[in-house]
Amino acid sequence: MNTFQTLLYQSSNGIGTITINRPDKLNALNALAKQELAQLLDSIKHDNDTHVVIITGAGEKSFVAGTDIGELTKLDAESGKLFAVGGQEVFDRIENLGKPVIAAINGYALGGGCELALACHIRIASENAKFGQPEVNLGIIPGYGGTQRLARLIGKGRAMEQILTGDQIDAQEALRIGLVNKVVPLADLMKTAEAMAQKIVSKGQVAVRLALKAVNMTDETNLTDGLALEASLFGVCCGSEDFKEGTKAFLEKRKPNFQNR
Ligand code: COA
Repeated sequence: MNTFQTLLYQSSNGIGTITINRPDKLNALNALAKQELAQLLDSIKHDNDTHVVIITGAGEKSFVAGTDIGELTKLDAESGKLFAVGGQEVFDRIENLGKPVIAAINGYALGGGCELALACHIRIASENAKFGQPEVNLGIIPGYGGTQRLARLIGKGRAMEQILTGDQIDAQEALRIGLVNKVVPLADLMKTAEAMAQKIVSKGQVAVRLALKAVNMTDETNLTDGLALEASLFGVCCGSEDFKEGTKAFLEKRKPNFQNR
């Protein structure tokens, strides 16, 4: 699976790690990187041995410094819309992968890089990480989901400030406003992400996937429909072998041995 020009991928112990690998361009996403990412996500979706995914960037300076600005220059009104739709489709594959995706943000997460992190389900940042939606400096707006996902995550007012000023914020500020879940020293970033991934892998994957689905739906449903969905997914869990094993193991005072079905 490791035949990509712009990505590295490794999978072990139920955890797949994707590294965006264009360090000389601060891991800016060019067309090939987006295409390869889409292809890799499709194959991970169908890989029964991979339960949790981590996305990070190569090197110590940058997660992803945005979409490749060189490729923006030839866009016009029509192709620009298609360009945004194409990027959104790739990031939708992350949000709807059906498996938890953790962003391990190791430096600049700007423009499309911030939007990539936003499409992940959990974000862990290193102390040197910097976040921003600087598109306005280029005469454009975020096009890979930033106007929608940033406002949903940190609130409309804060999202407006970031998107309208193009200012960068540091990791501590990102933590304060809820843009990231955790901030750790750069040297601890991958082991922190891996430990969290491993903890999720150790749970029953039927429950993990249905919880992911239910929480994901909060962006799209009203409370009444969301509660109805929650109740029916709770019912699905109760019909699973994992549920029988989880409750039995608790009562027998032992660790559950989930079979993920
Ligand atoms: N697209 C294409 N190339 C990019 C890039 C991007 N989004 N971000 C960085 N690069 C390239 C630079 O052009 C440079 O390439 P070169 O060595 O061939 O000239 C290389 O990555 C290193 O970047 P550089 O700007 O020299 O590093 P820096 O430490 O001085 O600055 C940043 C780092 C992130 C502040 C700066 O690169 C930057 O502002 N990047 C663009 C961020 C952005 O606007 N993203 C949103 C795009 S919609």
